[in-house]
Amino acid sequence: MSTNIDYFSIIHAYLPPDSLVYRVYIPHVAAVTTMAIRVGRRLGLDAKQLRFIEEAAMLHDIGIVRVDAPQIGCYGELPYISHLTEGRKILEHEGLPRHARVAAEHVGLGITREEILAQGLALPPHDLFPQTIEEQAISWADLFFSKMPGKRWCQRTVAEARQRAAQYGERQLETFAVWLARFGT
Ligand SMILES: [Fe+2]
Repeated sequence: MSTNIDYFSIIHAYLPPDSLVYRVYIPHVAAVTTMAIRVGRRLGLDAKQLRFIEEAAMLHDIGIVRVDAPQIGCYGELPYISHLTEGRKILEHEGLPRHARVAAEHVGLGITREEILAQGLALPPHDLFPQTIEEQAISWADLFFSKMPGKRWCQRTVAEARQRAAQYGERQLETFAVWLARFGT
């Protein structure tokens, strides 16, 4: 049996509503959630799957609270990419292992162990790929939204999202074409 998660109470426990990071976080995750649900509906996912997308997309970036990114109100010490691992830890601590997997794996279209090591990324040294259709829909939608001021509400074009995906390597471009055909925008 699964119970709906009160994701706002988790968000509020880590990101105080009067903080800068909260004002960055909510527009970002709301935009990602909206697009991921749109993709999920188009794929014919059922209500339970769409609810999971809603919860996991709203929580997927919770780990940013522990990184060093003062321009978006994050005053931790870790490099930005660590928000994946930190998000996983936070959501596992909250007893949400499925949601934690989304946080841990939302690295664009996925990244191999070799790519992580070659680029010296602060990620665990193993393949990270969004696996289920729900995880993929969220990771896909996340490619289309920035957290930067002035850009938060504006969905990236396909060309911009493709460029974003390519930051982790050319291999991503092939997957991008496949996902674009499968998920749309
Ligand atoms: Fe995100």
